[in-house]
Amino acid sequence: MTGDKKTVFSGVQPSGNLTIGNYLGAIKNFSKFSEEYKTFYCVVDLHAITVRQVPAELRKRTYETLALYMACGLDEKKNTLFVQSHVPQHAELGWILDCYTMFGELSRMTQFKDKSAKNAQNINAGLFTYPALMAADILLYQTDVVPVGIDQKQHLELARDVAMRFNQIYSDTFTVPEGYINTDTMKIMSLAEPTAKMSKSDPNQNAVVYILDSKDDIIRKFKRAVTDSDTTVKYSDEKPGISNLMTIYRAFTGKTYEEIEREFDGRGYGDFKLAVGEACADGLAPVRDEFSRLIADKAHLEAVMKSGAEEAAYYARKTMSKVRRKIGFVN
Ligand code: TYM
Repeated sequence: MTGDKKTVFSGVQPSGNLTIGNYLGAIKNFSKFSEEYKTFYCVVDLHAITVRQVPAELRKRTYETLALYMACGLDEKKNTLFVQSHVPQHAELGWILDCYTMFGELSRMTQFKDKSAKNAQNINAGLFTYPALMAADILLYQTDVVPVGIDQKQHLELARDVAMRFNQIYSDTFTVPEGYINTDTMKIMSLAEPTAKMSKSDPNQNAVVYILDSKDDIIRKFKRAVTDSDTTVKYSDEKPGISNLMTIYRAFTGKTYEEIEREFDGRGYGDFKLAVGEACADGLAPVRDEFSRLIADKAHLEAVMKSGAEEAAYYARKTMSKVRRKIGFVN
């Protein structure tokens, strides 16, 4: 809780161009909370450096991620929008929570296993302790609800365990957070390999639809999407490619799976893929337009980051003073 409102926190890494997975699984859900909750939406640059980043790119993407938050409907007056490294309490609590997170717990994290397999030359300690920093992000604001895609569920459970462990040792200090996972869009799959998650770090550009892709690119990518040798548009575990496209189409049109099956009954995949591409491109057009307007005004973005960080730091300091006292640090 922050004041009389329940608190929402979530974050996105500025580690690549954002995808329709990030949009449908996370960012699109963020604005649902803006009116009734105290909301903190963070660009998590400290997390991004667990994988090597080109400095100029990281800086550029940090601005872009903030502008995308705003372009996706997050009003800076109703939401606290900020950059993680601007509030040093994230790193401070991150270190403290490292000391309450077990090696065994971190070793079981599937994202650590996946990412270390992909970055065998750079399995750094930050990659390993990443979930403790994520717990710090969440617990710093006494967060009640964390909207994320399903791939973050394991990290969120760890944050809950760490909060409960700390509370048990030192008495109530942190709110134990709950996840908010939109089951309709919790895992958007790759267009090239529909059994794998769509990921912003995928080197295959055709596997991923970026929020800022042009209409032509979006339509081209959906046309090339991997499906199956059948011809019926039907939602089924045996048809992961078509089912993923149906999930995306449903998210952009509001139609049900039954309605989609009826709409494309007897029409083949070509028609269907074109319709998905058009619905997606048209759905994203307002976001792209708004983004172009926002990204051109760097001074405004900097003002938003600055006031967001000041607001966030006010709450972060409150939690930190409690944590420091409970642990036994001299003030
Ligand atoms: P990140 O940057 O990988 O992804 C941002 C958000 O997008 C969701 N997401 C997806 N949802 C559906 N389908 C997909 N294909 C897909 N790909 C990504 C993610 O679940 C996430 O919600 N560790 C986090 C960032 C983070 C964070 C936090 C999140 C740091 N601290 C505190 C919440 C609270 C991450 O790497 O997200």
